[in-house]
Amino acid sequence: MCGIVAYIGTKEAYPILIKGLKRLEYRGYDSAGVALMNNGNISLIKQKGKVSELEELATKASITGTLGIGHTRWATHGPPSQINSHPHISNNGDIVVIHNGIIENFQSIKEELTRRGYKFISDTDTEVLPHLIEEIQKKEKCALDKAVRLALNEVTGAYAIAVFSKKEPNILIGARKGSPLIVGIGETEFFLASDASPVIEYTKKVIYINDEEMVTLNRDGNFELKTIQNEEKTPNIQELELNLESIEKGGYDHFMLKEIHEQPKSIYDSVRGRVDLTNGKIKLGGLEEYKNRIMASRRIVIVACGTSWHAGLLAEYMIEDLARANVEVEYASEFRYRNPVIDEDDIIIAISQSGETADTLAAIEMAKQKGCLILGVCNVVGSSIPRASHAGCYTHAGPEIGVASTKAFTAQVSVFFLIALWIAENKNTLSKSRLNQLLHELEILPSKIESLLKSCEEKVKAIAKEYKDATNFLYLGRGYNFPAALEGALKLKEISYIHAEGYPAAEMKHGPIALIDEEMPVVFLVNNISSHEKTLSNVQEVAARKGQVIAIARHGDTQIKKLAKHVIEVPDTEDCLSPILASIPLQLLSYYIALERGCNVDQPRNLAKSVTVE
Ligand code: AGP
Ligand code: GLU
Repeated sequence: MCGIVAYIGTKEAYPILIKGLKRLEYRGYDSAGVALMNNGNISLIKQKGKVSELEELATKASITGTLGIGHTRWATHGPPSQINSHPHISNNGDIVVIHNGIIENFQSIKEELTRRGYKFISDTDTEVLPHLIEEIQKKEKCALDKAVRLALNEVTGAYAIAVFSKKEPNILIGARKGSPLIVGIGETEFFLASDASPVIEYTKKVIYINDEEMVTLNRDGNFELKTIQNEEKTPNIQELELNLESIEKGGYDHFMLKEIHEQPKSIYDSVRGRVDLTNGKIKLGGLEEYKNRIMASRRIVIVACGTSWHAGLLAEYMIEDLARANVEVEYASEFRYRNPVIDEDDIIIAISQSGETADTLAAIEMAKQKGCLILGVCNVVGSSIPRASHAGCYTHAGPEIGVASTKAFTAQVSVFFLIALWIAENKNTLSKSRLNQLLHELEILPSKIESLLKSCEEKVKAIAKEYKDATNFLYLGRGYNFPAALEGALKLKEISYIHAEGYPAAEMKHGPIALIDEEMPVVFLVNNISSHEKTLSNVQEVAARKGQVIAIARHGDTQIKKLAKHVIEVPDTEDCLSPILASIPLQLLSYYIALERGCNVDQPRNLAKSVTVE
């Protein structure tokens, strides 16, 4: 978690850092801070809360300088407070550090440094770093870069760091292990950042730092990339494809609303170029090289977290249903620690919007050691999971900034629909005409979403008003709509803080039915055709107990209108694509309920966009 940004060059660093921190705020917003090299001294300001609060504080201070580092925190060690905010400074006041990740052996280092007389003021794990670097510099009488390198050899855990020292005002150092860090290379300036968003308007030339690599950026325009074992590395300078508009709100009140409305395009972009409708063929360039191995595999194991896990569950339903291949879906965090039986006959597919989720990354590293083929379905180009995978498919949903995932989810499901059809085509499990029919349905899905967004938003707003004070919600669906029910419930709890549970509709009678009374809103997803009658029986069971039924149903479903208090109509589609359409009003419902309750939609409490700690 947390966002880091740093600058060295000829411009004033502070505006660059603040702007960068605002873009990175999705990664954490417990506190923010900056440190700048200011006429031979270090100016350090930090503040609990949002970047805007830091900005306010900064108006009272004189912050100037052309070298600086900035941090927005998602607390792991020590509560959000001014004292625990980054940057952290060494006891001698020379060295400042910002850090994303967890130093796992901080306790033993802290004890040792305390014995040597170092004073710790915060509860963070991070604070060991500036003191350790100071101690090494004292002992070795060495330059900052060597001291940072030696310090990094003593720590275990995960880090992306940016460091500078008062004594070497022309040097900025960055390093990473497990947490993302990129270097932006400008004309006479360098940037360090957790992702490309703070850099994009200044340069398109970037280097993605690899694990255990450290970069030393010199104000004179030179830089050096080495491993922390001191081996020189040849930098791989890449061109960014991101554009500025895609990371701004574009007239919407919130990124989440913008991203919900972007879904016709994000699905189109994720599918574009991958379907040859005239010949009924799917082209997944990233997977082609491994086709034989994928087709011959014993099973596919999908690992993911959160919303991406829900997309994984849908992938299982689709691949089993359409391609008759064996699939298992695992929570990455459980999978990696429970000694699973996997070997080189298994294919592992990691799903991740950010491509940085620590649990998912660790799960694929573990599977890689067992000889499995690793595929990634990720959204952020160049992020850690695609780089750690043998091959994969990007989702092309564009940057997703709202913490609650929306367009990334529907893009993931669309890409898995293609993967399922690609396997089906190769395994001959579908007739040519059926394959064409399904591909055609995918092709017209974006326009269906477009009309759905127009037709349902006002109705959803009214429902949100009515149920904004509910304390619980149930989301029920069967078959393809069970994973969509789970996702609907997750969206609501994430951003509105209302307790919500997703359940298979038929499972309700085995327990949750006890919760139903006239106070309980129950969202039923009945827009899939298979088991429609049976789901309607479940609706009856809820209605009989006076539950408040809100149904997501196909246009023209007259039966549901007799049973439900509210019906949100969605266009007809194939069952396997019905969860995508059901998800649109559910995303809007959570958005408008959160808005009614005055919640911070884009930055819900306690969460962060990418979870780079275990
Ligand atoms: C989604 O709304 C959540 N914020 C969260 O569950 C998320 O999906 C999860 O942390 C996985 O993230 P990833 O897709 O970036 O790996
Ligand atoms: N572990 C550090 C802290 O608690 C950094 C956390 C982060 O990555 O945001 O301050």
